[in-house]
Formats: sequence, C-alpha cells, structure tokens
Amino acid sequence: MSLAPSSRAPSATPVPGAAPIAWPSRHLLQLRGLPADHLRSVLHLARRYDEIVGPRPLAGGFSPSRVLSPGSAELQRELHGRVIANLFFEDSTRTRVSFSVAARRLGADVIDLTSVGSSMNKGETVVDTALNIAAMGVDGVVIRHRSSGAAEMVRRALDGEPAHGARGDADEPAPPAEPPAQACSVINAGDGRHEHPTQGLLDIYTVAAAFGRLETFDLSGLTVAIIGDIGSSRVARSDIAGMVALGARVICIGPPGLVPAAMATLGCEVSHDLDRVLPELDVVNVLRIQFERHDSGGGVSGGGGVPGPASSGAAAPAKSPIIASTREYSEMYGLSSRRAARLRKHAIIMHPGPINRGVELASDVADSQRSMVLRQVSYGVVVRMAVLKLCLG
Ligand code: CP
Repeated sequence: MSLAPSSRAPSATPVPGAAPIAWPSRHLLQLRGLPADHLRSVLHLARRYDEIVGPRPLAGGFSPSRVLSPGSAELQRELHGRVIANLFFEDSTRTRVSFSVAARRLGADVIDLTSVGSSMNKGETVVDTALNIAAMGVDGVVIRHRSSGAAEMVRRALDGEPAHGARGDADEPAPPAEPPAQACSVINAGDGRHEHPTQGLLDIYTVAAAFGRLETFDLSGLTVAIIGDIGSSRVARSDIAGMVALGARVICIGPPGLVPAAMATLGCEVSHDLDRVLPELDVVNVLRIQFERHDSGGGVSGGGGVPGPASSGAAAPAKSPIIASTREYSEMYGLSSRRAARLRKHAIIMHPGPINRGVELASDVADSQRSMVLRQVSYGVVVRMAVLKLCLG
C-alpha cells in the first residue's frame, strides 16, 4: 500500500457509534508492507458494515441477499456527493460489480469505464486516461490493468510525482507536469502479477468469519494453503502479505513451474506435494491456472479442455509449456472429492473465481457445504465499502 500522506483527514469516523479508525493514506495499492493494525482497521470497518447490510445465515443455507436494516440510510451519507470511477482495462465480473455495489451502498456516484469503447482504443495511455478522468473532479479511481505496477504509475501521475519506480511491464510515458488540482484516490483492483489487495482483504475476512476471529482478525494457529499458479497470481501475493502479517502459516502448493521456491521470500512455505500436507490444513484456497499471464501464451500440451490462449490455434512462438497438461495438473493438484475428504473436518475451501470446474476444483467440492466461494463474493462488498470509505472519507 502506498503510504502517501492524504490531504484529507487521516482518520475516518464511520457509521454512528463507531470509534475513529486510523488510516494512513488515500490510496490502496498493495497489502505488502501494510502493518497488521492497518489491516485490522479496514477489516473492523468492514465488519461494522457487514452488521448493517451483511448476508444473514438462513436455515438451510447462506443467503447472499442483503436485508437493508435501518442503518442503511446512514450508510448512504458516508460517501454522499463523491464520484468513483471504475477503470477496468482487463476483464472482471466480481471485482468490478462489487466495487460498484459498494460505492452505491455508501451513497457515491459511480462511473464505469472499460477499454472497450474508450479512447484507449485510439492509443490513449492508461495514465492519460486516468488524468483526464480525475480532471473531471472524480474523487477516486478503481483500476484494473494487465500490467504489474499500473496502479502505482497512475497514483504517481495523479499525485504529480515522476513516473520512475513503476515496476513490471507497464510501458507508459512520463506523466505531465500538471496533476489534477483535486486529490484523487487510487485503489488497485488487480495489476498484472503484482497484487489484488481487496481480494486479499476479503479472503482474510472470510477466514476470520469462518473461524470466529472477527473480534481480533488474529489468524495465528491457522494453516492456509494456496494451491495453483502462484507465480502468476496477484491474489496469492496479497493473501500471503495480509495473512502472514495477521499470524497465519501460509503454504503455497503446486508444481515447481507454477510455484517457484523463491516465493518463500514472501514469508510463506513452498511445497510441491499436496497430498502430504492436506491433513494439516485449515483453509484451502484454490487458484486457477492463469494462462493469459504465461509467457508461452498459455502453452499446454494436450489433455486440456481449459480455455486459454494456446487453445485458440493461433501460431505462437514454440516455448516449453509451463505445465505438461491440464489433466496431469488436475490429477496432481486438483482439489477432488477424494482429496477434500482427507481434509480436517473443519477445513474450509476458497477460490477467488473464476473457477475452471473440473480442473483445479471439482464441481461437487465447489458446491459443497465447506465451500466459501459465494461468501467470499458477498464479503467482498463490505470489504470494498470499508476500503472506499477509508481512502475517500
Ligand atoms: N476474483 C476476481 O478478481 O474476480 P474477477 O476477475 O471476476 O474480478
């Protein structure tokens, strides 16, 4: 997370009755480096919002529908008059809709912009796009981009800083000397392989809710496995940063081509043997294989059935596939019913979506009682409400 000082108040007083919450920045770019106290600030505010509009467990299951309580009128005043722009230059279902719902629940106006139909199709850069949107008086931009570092690059431009220091493959010219007159928050909704901080926060919230840790958000004593394409995953990086900071033991599991040993420098353990660690796990977070982020263009040699660029038949430079086949991957690392049966009784199963059913996660496991997949999506709304309020409020 950027710790750039905010020109707005450094603390926010949320819904009536809540204590002011310390919050260091008007931006949220990453969880890495964010102290546990700051993580807890946003999670506690999410919990307060959840108590007002959250999903209610019903007999026979979990209801994702929100029953608006009397407190919801007060929520509408939280960001009344603010304007938030969703700038999504990469596909999204959950994050984009969730930010829109969250902003509207707090009374903000929302603008949605995607690369389709925008002037980016005429060659305008993401930085120029964001500067133009901010110049209209927008209070915050929520940005998703395929390039690692894109959100930080936009933040620098909006804060009037030089563009140096942007990481990864975001290939943008230097920003103009004149930033927008009005401060504008930047919230990272997923940038390349870097981070997806609100996904990390909602994953933490889901774990805390499942294990009765909503008072403290202390995850110590819990062992969390993240299985899959860790090297390509911004979700994994945010989960590792946030969960380790809050005390969890995190094990990244997958084949060496997808889970490099160097991931351990992030504070997690690395294993290539799912079956050996299964009985130790309290939480299993399953990720899809992100073919679109593999240099080979998603090279998979046969046994597929998984949509990916390599299956398009387009001529691409021949490179070694990062996994031998999706069938083989599924046999070794897929969470099947047989594997799920070996988990501890209380263990929960998570997936950030979208799921490739039958590859990394068996369909019946995804739909089972221990699956938290739709709860994650529901908690995502209150977590994003908290992030928006703390950054913009
Ligand atoms: N989890 C997640 O980021 O999903 P979307 O890509 O649909 O936003």
